[in-house]
Amino acid sequence: CGIVGYAGNLETACDKPLEVCLQGLARLEYRGYDSAGVALTAPGMDHVEVRKKAGRLANLTEDIERRPMPQATVAIGHTRWATNGVPSDVNAHPHTSRDGKVAIIHNGIIENASQLRLDLQSEGYRFASKTDTEVAAKLLGKIVDAIIAEEGAPDLFKAMRRMARMLEGAFTILATDCRQPGIVVGARHDSPLVVGLGEGENFLGSDVAAFVAYTKRALEVGQDQCVCVSADAVVVNDFYGNVIEDPSTYTVDWDASAAEKGGWDSFMDKEIHEDPAAVQRTLLGRFDERGDITLDEVRIDDHDFKSIDKIIVIACGTAAYAGQVAKYAIEHWVRVPVEVELAHEFRYRDPILTPRTLVVAISQSGETMDTLMALRHAREQGSKVLAICNTQGASIPRESDAVLYTHAGPEVAVASTKAFVAQVTASYLLGLYLAQVKGAMFRDEIRQILDALKDMPAKIQWILDTQMTAVHEAAADMVDAHSFLFLGRHVGYPVAMEGALKLKEIAYTFTEGFAAGELKHGPIALVDEGEPVVFIVPPSHGRDVLHAKVLSGIEEVKARGAYIIAVAERGDKDVERYADVVFWRPECPTLLSPLVDVVPLQIFAMDMAKLKGYDVDKPRNLAKSVTVE
Ligand code: G6P
Repeated sequence: CGIVGYAGNLETACDKPLEVCLQGLARLEYRGYDSAGVALTAPGMDHVEVRKKAGRLANLTEDIERRPMPQATVAIGHTRWATNGVPSDVNAHPHTSRDGKVAIIHNGIIENASQLRLDLQSEGYRFASKTDTEVAAKLLGKIVDAIIAEEGAPDLFKAMRRMARMLEGAFTILATDCRQPGIVVGARHDSPLVVGLGEGENFLGSDVAAFVAYTKRALEVGQDQCVCVSADAVVVNDFYGNVIEDPSTYTVDWDASAAEKGGWDSFMDKEIHEDPAAVQRTLLGRFDERGDITLDEVRIDDHDFKSIDKIIVIACGTAAYAGQVAKYAIEHWVRVPVEVELAHEFRYRDPILTPRTLVVAISQSGETMDTLMALRHAREQGSKVLAICNTQGASIPRESDAVLYTHAGPEVAVASTKAFVAQVTASYLLGLYLAQVKGAMFRDEIRQILDALKDMPAKIQWILDTQMTAVHEAAADMVDAHSFLFLGRHVGYPVAMEGALKLKEIAYTFTEGFAAGELKHGPIALVDEGEPVVFIVPPSHGRDVLHAKVLSGIEEVKARGAYIIAVAERGDKDVERYADVVFWRPECPTLLSPLVDVVPLQIFAMDMAKLKGYDVDKPRNLAKSVTVE
């Protein structure tokens, strides 16, 4: 879910609070988009003004245009991704207290909501929805009432702290009270919350995209902390009211325009075309001309790095495929065994972790709950965790011992594209850094690979400049296909998996990715006349054996009437002979080839989805950032 909040000047109610919320929600819509709502308040109001609608944000904005909302001094807004109660107007946030004076929005799951609901029901409280959030809204209202009875005045900040201590589960909550129309208060436990620092106004968001159009200065609200934001003050407390002195602040290093479509048809289109820049920016400033590599935020000393005898990559979805590429590169360069594990499997199988294990958590959002929980488990077992993340200040980098940020810029389309190539690039840097620290490679060898890496953005650009027609035509030819097989070997295997995932995610086509060597052990039974099979073909130089083996796989399925799409190196005559379509790649070292090979597959999936008339940025049933386990 996406959360936004605004506190402005108490003297003059105006349209800005609503404007900020709606704009922020538009930018956060990728976090969830099955319903949206806002709550406003201003001096003199006897209740909080709430408007909420099921469906896309557009439903809410149209409703507000038809029936304008009053001017306000503070506001909160929410875009929902249902986890508890179906998407509907009633279940949409904000939810209000019994007297309508307090409104809250919430991201996460309150695990003890059923018990709290029963307690409140036994005191006569009635509920309009089935959501855990409404339980929190009623509870917060009740606590404010108790504080008024005790102290003669409402204190929403104190009430929020009291409530936060009672809730179990994961939550970010923002609340507003019409009796205190100058503040928005928030609480954070296992779910993200950032403050945007303005001049005479302040902002809140589940990430900086919510307010970056207004300010680039951000303040982190830490785990188990509450915040009270007014036009000119931001106070952070722990759940017990102790003031957190000097919470850390930072400046966002990208522009609001980076989170806008900028003339592209879709965010996905724009983001794929940013693949070269994502790789380039991720490399930028990470090594000098001698080939010496530095990482960001390292709280692991060289001695610990040297003693690492095993690496486990934990991640989900696309990030896990980036992790599989990392395995090939890091094992080859550093000679340390690397396991890649889906984060949700890792934690529950009692993995073998020691202080000499380095766990690498890869996550675009930095908020994927499965990955966060796996990371915590690893740290509890005494292992060090290094995060590869695209979102500054997110939970995963905050809780890690070291961070290597990918500088892909904000990724808005739900299906990950530029973040993947940035994650793969960061993994290479990590591998080379470890090789440097552990003395596993000569400086010259490292420098040669870094030089090859520096050439990769131009090679990706070459694909975008020259291969698009072939990709568009193949998509048009294949749009009615019922299923696809994607096959690759070595680093081509995770690329095949990622290509297959893209097609499933946005074109809703049943697709399987396999290791090409596995073909004869089962998947070949699926191949029939006209079945489209996509092969990632390794370069013919260097790893000759693999090239020949993939080629024989192509021959086998061709003989059974398959329609072959190949990703292969420019000038590969053998492939040209068998394939119906070839997406060419420029020459590059095999280990670096995923950076180029994935690009035509991203475009192919996007084309297929567009031809079928689907919304490529917001595929059905998926959310960009899955903040529940
Ligand atoms: C969700 C998204 C995927 C993404 C995965 C991991 O499932 O739909 O596109 O790859 O989460 O996200 P992360 O932010 O941790 O990289």
